[in-house]
Amino acid sequence: MSNDEMKKLQGDLIKAIEGAEGSAALEAVRVEALGKKGKLTEMMKTLGSLDPDARKAMGAALNEVKVAVTAALEAKGKILAAAAQTARLEKERIDITLPARGGESEGRIHPITQTYEEIVTIFAAMGFSVAKGPDIETDWNNFTALNIPPEHPARQMQDTFYMPAVGEMPTVLRTHTSPVQIRTMMGQKPPIRIIAPGRTYRCDSDMTHTPMFSQFEGLVIDEKTHMGHLKGCLLDFLRAFFGIDDLPLRFRPSYFPFTEPSAEIDIGCSRKGGELKLGNYGDWLEIGGCGMVNANVLRNCGLDPDQVQGFAFGTGIERLAMLKYGIPDLRTFFEADMRWLKHYGFVPLDIPNPAMGA
Ligand code: DAH
Repeated sequence: MSNDEMKKLQGDLIKAIEGAEGSAALEAVRVEALGKKGKLTEMMKTLGSLDPDARKAMGAALNEVKVAVTAALEAKGKILAAAAQTARLEKERIDITLPARGGESEGRIHPITQTYEEIVTIFAAMGFSVAKGPDIETDWNNFTALNIPPEHPARQMQDTFYMPAVGEMPTVLRTHTSPVQIRTMMGQKPPIRIIAPGRTYRCDSDMTHTPMFSQFEGLVIDEKTHMGHLKGCLLDFLRAFFGIDDLPLRFRPSYFPFTEPSAEIDIGCSRKGGELKLGNYGDWLEIGGCGMVNANVLRNCGLDPDQVQGFAFGTGIERLAMLKYGIPDLRTFFEADMRWLKHYGFVPLDIPNPAMGA
């Protein structure tokens, strides 16, 4: 075969390779050139019958063609593979704007979770961090350290679930989140600024009480915090939480063993026509308790009441959720009824937040 013929063969093969429209077509060209019976393979086989000089020249020329064809096959192979991948990605593209399968997705954020998140978000913006404690609490943290010694009548204010003692220490299912105050003051030095949301338990069950419910506690301890700060802090929180700019707040004198002075927190409402509406309407609704931390509690936690002082408050999370989202019956929170959750729950990617004025 002459040099020209060889060049033409190379040119033809490369053209066929470049024109191949898919991996099958490319493979056919490869077999035609380099397969067992391929053109180049057949020509290689004839080399043996040539005399040494001709064999050398022809061998080198054939090799050159083979190298060029192999490189072209490889390059085209890569192009086709990339194109195939692009086509597949196009075809398999997932439209993430589509609603989840089954139309409306089934899952909802429970109103307690949603309310919890809103509370944490607002207090975080005021510089509070979140503190936690266990549901099974020592009698000391739940009562004694909070200035409720054994035999104190205040123990009867809360219907307690008693648990087996751990060693000498009696334990209870915590009746409020207030023991997290104790844990925090024992574990960190003032200044302290925490909220402590969580589950609480009382042996009580009727229209407005469930054996398990949620509370959140607030605690601020430093050198100068006073009752005015307490009122301002709660007012800012409640107005942000309910989204009512002129929501009035009233402190009604009360008694809690762990605070002195103590107050019930009332917010403005109207009950006209049997319908409860929050706002500046002249009527009042109680939503929690608060006060300045009792000096005995500070002492029980190893703090000196002559050096530090502060306030605490506690309120029910379901209570706040019921008021904000118009949920009439407390017990429904815990019935795990999907129809209820669908109605009162929140779609995960569509939840209100304080920045949206929720
Ligand atoms: N622990 C109280 C309860 O469950 C609520 C409470 C009242 C918490 C006054 C406080 C407080 O921190 O200062 O009834």
